[in-house]
Amino acid sequence: MKKIIIAIDGYSACGKSTTAREVAKELNYRYIDSGAMYRTVTLYFLDHHVSLTNPKEIEKALSEIHITFVINSKGASETFLNGINIESAIRKMRISEHVSLVSAMREVRLAMVKQQRKLGKERGIVMDGRDIGTVVFPEADLKIFLTADMLVRAFRRQKELLERNDLVDIDEIVDNLTKRDQIDSSRKESPLVKADAAISIDTTHITIDEQVDEVIRLSLTKMIPALKR
Ligand code: DC
Repeated sequence: MKKIIIAIDGYSACGKSTTAREVAKELNYRYIDSGAMYRTVTLYFLDHHVSLTNPKEIEKALSEIHITFVINSKGASETFLNGINIESAIRKMRISEHVSLVSAMREVRLAMVKQQRKLGKERGIVMDGRDIGTVVFPEADLKIFLTADMLVRAFRRQKELLERNDLVDIDEIVDNLTKRDQIDSSRKESPLVKADAAISIDTTHITIDEQVDEVIRLSLTKMIPALKR
């Protein structure tokens, strides 16, 4: 069967990561959470007090950041920064509050996109993010664009944070998601836009299983060209 590249883009908390992870599991593909990479850079910048207006400092910091993904005993992908597991740290609101600013920077994007393309060389990959179908893999075989109503997204994110023992007020989450949507879609470098060929899926009223099934069904039509949609 043909190995394909699946790009899943969309706004924050629309279920991209969960869908991408489950689709990758079903297809025995590699899953890469590109948002985790921008979150990792943000963590490093904050912890090392990197000045966002000093290109030299940014360049140096980027050269010191080595991001890897390791599959844990439950089959989930965890993010490592220079060999240290930072999966939990990068999901905190402290990172969510700064990640859109950091990921809007040209130097940061160039460095991350280079690594993301390397990871996709072998194909057989599902990557989720904001610019995967438009910039990272414009040649992706299948492009998905997920959307959902704001409140549904906020409650899903709140539940996710709670599962990590992080109780965050719903208003704070709505505020953060709204701000990030705005920055991610209006930035100069690779703004979040739906790729022309992307198929939109509104996840407001469907379950994760239904989302996953739909993406698998679409994937199969690309992997086995004889199948019709
Ligand atoms: O998917 P996420 O919410 O974990 O992503 C965190 C931030 O990273 C998001 O607000 C914008 C940025 N991002 C990006 O600019 N490009 C990507 N491909 C993925 C994420």
